Formats: sequence, structure tokens, C-alpha cells
Amino acid sequence: MRCNLACVVGLALVAVGCGAGEKLDRAALLDPTACQQCHSDHYREWSGSMHAYAADDPVFLAMNARGQRETSGALGDFCVRCHAPMALREGLTTDGLNLADLPQAYKGVTCYFCHNVEAVEGEHNNPLRLANDAVMRGGIANPARGAGHEAAYSPLLDRAEPAASGVCGACHDVVTPAGVHLERSFEEWRGSLFAHETQAELQTCVRCHMPGRDGLAAYVEGVPVRRVHDHAMPGVDVAVTEWPEADAQRAAIQRDLDTTVFAVLCVKRVLGGVELRVDLEDFAAGHHFPSGAAHDRRAWVELRASRAGRTVYETGVLAADRPLVALEAEDPDLWRIGDRVTRADGSPAHMFWDVAAVESMILPVPTALSPQDPAYVDPHVVRTFQVDDVPDRVELRVHVRPIGLDVLDDLVASGDLDPALRARFPTFTLGATEVVWTPEADDRDGDGCIPDVN
Ligand code: HEC
Ligand code: HEC
Ligand code: HEC
Ligand code: HEC
Ligand code: HEC
Repeated sequence: MRCNLACVVGLALVAVGCGAGEKLDRAALLDPTACQQCHSDHYREWSGSMHAYAADDPVFLAMNARGQRETSGALGDFCVRCHAPMALREGLTTDGLNLADLPQAYKGVTCYFCHNVEAVEGEHNNPLRLANDAVMRGGIANPARGAGHEAAYSPLLDRAEPAASGVCGACHDVVTPAGVHLERSFEEWRGSLFAHETQAELQTCVRCHMPGRDGLAAYVEGVPVRRVHDHAMPGVDVAVTEWPEADAQRAAIQRDLDTTVFAVLCVKRVLGGVELRVDLEDFAAGHHFPSGAAHDRRAWVELRASRAGRTVYETGVLAADRPLVALEAEDPDLWRIGDRVTRADGSPAHMFWDVAAVESMILPVPTALSPQDPAYVDPHVVRTFQVDDVPDRVELRVHVRPIGLDVLDDLVASGDLDPALRARFPTFTLGATEVVWTPEADDRDGDGCIPDVN
């Protein structure tokens, strides 16, 4: 390509790419900051993602340190396989205990790691094979010439291809060294409606988690406008130390959580009072809710019923600084959503390597569109609550915390986590589950339900 000042497009005043076709070699491509000059949007979005944070996450560092100590090192490279895959594969770490001393370029799930995948050789614990060459693979069939590197199309990084879910799924499915299938996002997705290979139903992880917009894939001359994809990938977990894009991350999480679960609240008169009926549906997730680290997540239902301003019933009412598990002892109606994990002796487990059994209390993902389909699982989960009074106002909401305060307290007690971080973890409220019933609001059709179900 002939180069002159017009190489430089838009506001990204970059002169690279003009250097007579010089290409970044493998060593240079390992460093995410090398992408920033041409892919500034991708870099910014990724830098605020949990992928970038994965090896700086203080909870991760605390758990890995404790795990290595408690297993006398038997945990080995298990955790860094997914949290710092390039550091491990480049031989810079074996157990993650030295991550603080490593150059940032090797930490977390880096650009090179995803964009150099050449094969998926399994379904959990990161069996991704890299080509280890200097080719950046992606979903663009005809990448513009003059990129700062070799580029090639790969179906493994194309949102329209089912195989793309296998790349995400390879890490988003964790089987512990003890053989417990602890994180199951990929398995859940494979059993869902969204894994069906029909035009109408197929939704890969990438389609939902990397929304597209029209823009430039690189700020370099001659690059056409195309669909580009958001790399921020908000979930539920947050950065709790000084980190780029931290406010944007929380806002994006809230935005996505607001439409994830739908709720219907019905109030029915029964002898001596009312029966509250709560119907929750995993509406937008491509897997159960919660998914992934469902064993550390704490999600629950809050219900408050009052009459003339006086509380007549409540469950799931929890102060911001109290662990959810504290409520379990005193709130017999508590509806906790997520996984409950136990050790071999049946006591609660907090750490991966201790987990012997998983009890799942999640909201299931839709498996089929039609109830006539033999694979159909009803995604509605319903519970009823008895109230010995007749309220004139009932409030419902579902909350989720990225990680249980009981888990954090356990890590603080063992001396592995800075106690100051505890207060930085948020409690999110899922917007579409915030429902208020009053007789007036119910007047429209008097079916007792908000929103109306008829
Ligand atoms: C197979 C890949 C894989 C392995 C192995 C793995 N993780 Fe993770 N880890 C993930 C993924 C994916 C997430 C994000 C899931 C989510 O947030 O729902 C995650 C999230 C986390 C989180 C944040 C969410 C939470 O649980 O609070 C912590 C902390 C963590 N991992 C610690 C560890 C430790 C410690 C080990 C080793 C004992 C480990 N991980 C091993 C893939 C892995
Ligand atoms: C000198 C500019 C420049 C630098 C530096 C650069 N790229 Fe690119 N890259 C491009 C251009 C130009 C394209 C083609 C864009 C298009 O066709 O729309 C591209 C395309 C890509 C693609 C898409 C390939 C495909 O076929 O789908 C990926 C992935 C990619 N780059 C990753 C990276 C990563 C990761 C880094 C940093 C390690 C990086 N790039 C550094 C200019 C650059
Ligand atoms: C190399 C392993 C790896 C691959 C490949 C990978 N992830 Fe992740 N992902 C992680 C880890 C580790 C975390 C969590 C880091 C932490 O919380 O400390 C994570 C976090 C996330 C989160 C945020 C979860 C939360 O609760 O906040 C989302 C969403 C996500 N990944 C989606 C994807 C998608 C979509 C893909 C495929 C395009 C993908 N991941 C590929 C390892 C991986
Ligand atoms: C967790 C895996 C993952 C990580 C980490 C990742 N990407 Fe991507 N990236 C993807 C996937 C998947 C696509 C393809 C979307 C499609 O075309 O369907 C993509 C697409 C791209 C594209 C093509 C244009 C577009 O938006 O579709 C570029 C350029 C790119 N990524 C650059 C980067 C850079 C630069 C980084 C690091 C700063 C990075 N990526 C980190 C998974 C990842
Ligand atoms: C149909 C759209 C859709 C598909 C397909 C999908 N997800 Fe999700 N995912 C969501 C929504 C919605 C949420 C909840 C909102 C949030 O956490 O911000 C979510 C949440 C997550 C989380 C956060 C953990 C939690 O507790 O919910 C992870 C990790 C994740 N997805 C990974 C994946 C992976 C890996 C795949 C593919 C195997 C995938 N997702 C497929 C929509 C989807």
C-alpha cells in the first residue's frame, strides 16, 4: 500500500502502518498495548473487562494464594490456566504466586490469547490450542491489507458460527481437580434453545456478550466501515481496585441485569390473609441465572408486605454489609438463587478445592420454544408465601451480589484479602424484578397480578 499523511484517519492520529508494510512480530503482538494505536476502541473496552482484570483481581489472587498454601502446591497451574493463560504458556509463572512481579502484558485473558486460537480441544479447563504464530484471527472474512500484522478469518471467532461458543466455553466451564463440575456456563448453553443450529434460535456467546455496532475495526487508511464488536463483556463481577472504565463497567452490568430476569407478583386472598405468588423467569441469559461462578454469587428474592405503612410480612430484607448466609438462619422463607456448595462433611464450602458437592437452585435457561417439544423445560420458577394479614402494598425485587460477603470474610480471616475491599462490592437490583402491588395498581383487571398476566 502506498502511504502518505492520508494514512491517518479520523481523530486517531497514528502514523503506524505507514512503515512500508512492516508487520508486528509474535513477541510484539503478545502485548495488548501494541494494539491500542490502531484498535483504540477495542483496547479501551477490553481494558475495563474482567478479562483484562483476571490476574489482577484481588479475590482471585487471595484465593489462589490460599489454595496453593492449603494444598501444599497441589493446585499447581490450575487457576492461572484461565486467569493468566499467556503468562503460563510463556513460562513466566507456574502457580500464579508471582503474578504481581510480571509485566502487565502477560496478565489476564489477553488479545493475543483469543485471537491466536487455532483449535478447541475439549470442553472445560481451557483446552484451547494456539497457533503461536503472528496471525491475528477474527470474524472478518477479508481484512483490509496494510494491517499492522497478518490477519485471517477464523470460524472460531465468528459470532455466527456455533464453534465460536466453544472458544468462550472452553474457559467458561470449570471442573475442579477433585472432579466437581463447578462452573457450567458452556454446558448450560449447549443444553439450551440458543445452541440449536437454526437461524431463528442460534445465539452464540459472542452474539449476546459482544454487541455489534457500525464502525471502524482499525483506525487505519482504507479500512471500510463494518460491524465491530464490544469487548467490555460486562457480567456481574466488578473491578474493586483502581482500574480503567470501572464506572462504565458497573453501569453496563446494571443495564444488562435490568432485562435478564422477569418477575410476576400475584396477591390472592386466602382464609386468614393472603398468599403471595412470585414467578421468576430467566428471560435473556443464554444459560442459567446466575451462571458461571454461581457458587460464589449471592442472589435472592426480597418481599415486603405492609398495611397502612406497617410491615406485616418480610423475607430477604438484608442490610448492605450483611452476608446473605446470616439471613438463612433467621428467615425460613428465604428464597436464595444460585449454587450452594458443600465439603465432603456437608459443611459449607467457600473455596474451589474444598468443594465436594453442588446443589443448584438457579433459574433455568429455556431449552425449547414450544411446550410440545420433548426437550421443553418450563423456565418459570414459582414460589408462594403465606401472609397472615391483608396487606395494601407488596414490594418485590431480586438482588445479586458478585461474590458472597461470607466468602470475602473467609478470605479476610485467613489473612489473604485486604479487609478494606469488602465494602467496595456492590449489590445489584434487577430492574425488571422490581414490582409493586397495590389494590389500585391491580384494578385494571383484578387478576391479582402485577404486571398483568392475562
Ligand atoms: C477453566 C477456567 C478457569 C479456571 C481453571 C479457574 N477459573 Fe476462576 N473464573 C473463570 C471464569 C470463566 C470466571 C468468570 C465466571 C463468572 O464470573 O461467572 C472466573 C471467575 C473467578 C473469580 C471471580 C468470581 C468469583 O468466583 O468470585 C474468582 C475469584 C476466581 N475465578 C478464582 C479462581 C481460582 C482461585 C481458581 C483456581 C482454584 C480459578 N478461578 C480457576 C475461569 C476459570
Ligand atoms: C498498525 C495498525 C494495527 C495494529 C498495531 C494492530 N492492528 Fe489489528 N488490524 C489492523 C487493520 C488495518 C485490520 C483490518 C481491519 C479491517 O479490515 O476492517 C486489523 C484487523 C485485526 C483483526 C481482525 C482479523 C480478521 O480477519 O477478522 C484482529 C483480530 C486484530 N486486528 C487484532 C489485533 C491485535 C490483537 C493487535 C495487537 C496485538 C493488533 N491487531 C494491532 C491494524 C492494526
Ligand atoms: C482464557 C479463558 C477465557 C476465555 C477464552 C474467555 N473467557 Fe470470559 N472470563 C475468563 C475469566 C478468567 C473471567 C473472570 C475474571 C475474574 O473475574 O477475575 C472471565 C469473565 C467473563 C465475563 C464476566 C463475568 C462476570 O461475572 O463478570 C464474561 C461476560 C465473559 N467472560 C464472557 C466471555 C465470552 C463471551 C468469551 C468468548 C468470546 C470469553 N469470555 C472467553 C476467562 C475466559
Ligand atoms: C475473550 C476473547 C477476546 C479477547 C480477550 C479479545 N477479543 Fe477481539 N474479538 C473476539 C471475538 C470473538 C471477535 C469476533 C466477533 C465477530 O466477528 O463475530 C473479536 C473481534 C475483534 C476485532 C475485529 C473487529 C470486530 O470488532 O469484530 C478486532 C480488531 C479485535 N477483536 C481486536 C481485539 C483487541 C485489540 C483486543 C485486546 C485489546 C481483543 N480483541 C481482545 C474475542 C476477543
Ligand atoms: C441469549 C443471550 C446470551 C447467550 C447466548 C449467552 N449469554 Fe451469558 N449472559 C447473558 C445475560 C443476559 C447475562 C446476565 C446479565 C449480566 O450478567 O450482565 C449473562 C451473564 C453471563 C455471565 C455472568 C455470570 C452470571 O452470573 O450470570 C457469564 C460468565 C456469561 N454470561 C458467559 C456466557 C458464555 C460463556 C456463553 C456461551 C457459552 C454465554 N454467556 C451465552 C446472555 C447470554
